[in-house]
Amino acid sequence: MATSARRAVVLGLMLSGCGGDDAESVGDAATSSADTSAGPATDPTLATQSASQTASADDASSGASLSVGSDGDSSDGSSSAGSDTTGGPPAGATPENLRVAFFGDHGLGSESVATLELVISEDADFLVILGDFDYGDDPEAWHAQLDEGLGADFPMFAVAGNHDEAAWDGYRQVLMDRLAPIANAECDGEIGIQMSCNYQGIELVLSGVGTMDPPGDQSHEEFITERLGASEQIWKFCAWHKNQNDMQVGEKGNEVGWEAYQACQNAGAIVATGHEHSYSRTLTLTDIGNVEAGHGATGEHNIMQVAPGSNFVFVSGMGGVGIRDYNADQHDDDTWWSTFYTSDRYVREGEEIEGFEVELGVMFIDFYVDGDPYKAHAYFKTLTGEIIDEFDIFAAEP
Ligand SMILES: [Fe+2]
Repeated sequence: MATSARRAVVLGLMLSGCGGDDAESVGDAATSSADTSAGPATDPTLATQSASQTASADDASSGASLSVGSDGDSSDGSSSAGSDTTGGPPAGATPENLRVAFFGDHGLGSESVATLELVISEDADFLVILGDFDYGDDPEAWHAQLDEGLGADFPMFAVAGNHDEAAWDGYRQVLMDRLAPIANAECDGEIGIQMSCNYQGIELVLSGVGTMDPPGDQSHEEFITERLGASEQIWKFCAWHKNQNDMQVGEKGNEVGWEAYQACQNAGAIVATGHEHSYSRTLTLTDIGNVEAGHGATGEHNIMQVAPGSNFVFVSGMGGVGIRDYNADQHDDDTWWSTFYTSDRYVREGEEIEGFEVELGVMFIDFYVDGDPYKAHAYFKTLTGEIIDEFDIFAAEP
């Protein structure tokens, strides 16, 4: 499939403005930007980036895009399904030891800067922010804080949270400004709300499901299904802000619906969320949305299995603002958690941890570890350096 080429083309379209002209190509976007005075929908920097990304996507000499940038030419070993017979990484692989950071619920202030600095000190390759940016409707301040903590060019993706709606136009521009310098990001869709990005071999579906309406006629669930179904990547993620009550350990209600979670599970995509200000991580789930079956929780606490019909969910909502309590009334009969970490209760791999001190933190996942493109290793690390949770993830080989 010409997935890479398609994505590179649509990138220019979507970055050129929301609700805009559907027929615009990358080249057209670059041209129209050059012809138009600066504005949110026609930022010349973005147009330049779109054009350069087209060139980069076609350039098979550059790292991560090598395995994903194939155009279906069967003469190219990297484009064939399964293992590369030349002994290189298989199609859809990430670079070895790629590290991705995830947190939501960020806020403004020294602790919010500290989580950004943790991302840098852990030498992450990129960051996914899971919504609720600064709680003050202040995109300029949040942008300045990102630049302070990460630097202006550090690769970062994000989804909209409920606290980002009121000043969304401003946040949208921040996300576009932060996306612009990311080389080889192949993105299409409406930024922060209904976008998919292929970056460093990771397929990221960045959704506003439960938070923001879709930008067009396609539902969030249809978009998730379509984009994940078209992906040839080994590692896929669904990222959004809100939750179902069963998929967090606090008081958050059913605000997403099961269909979105199921669409991700069908494709073997890991679900990353925020909204509840604590950390939680399920066991491997095989029947998400089926409460009577405990969402199909199965397997070992520290080994996640990701494949079509199998995934897991984590909440990483400790990005810089207050840490919330565990809700015993709503969750004491939950059977699908491996680890959760809240202000008043910490359970690790099913075992109660007593006498802990809670601290903000960040989820990190390393891909293609131990020389195995189908193996990942995850850990949640606090600002004081404590590892709260640590586990392996295995993706199905074709
Ligand atoms: Fe929220």
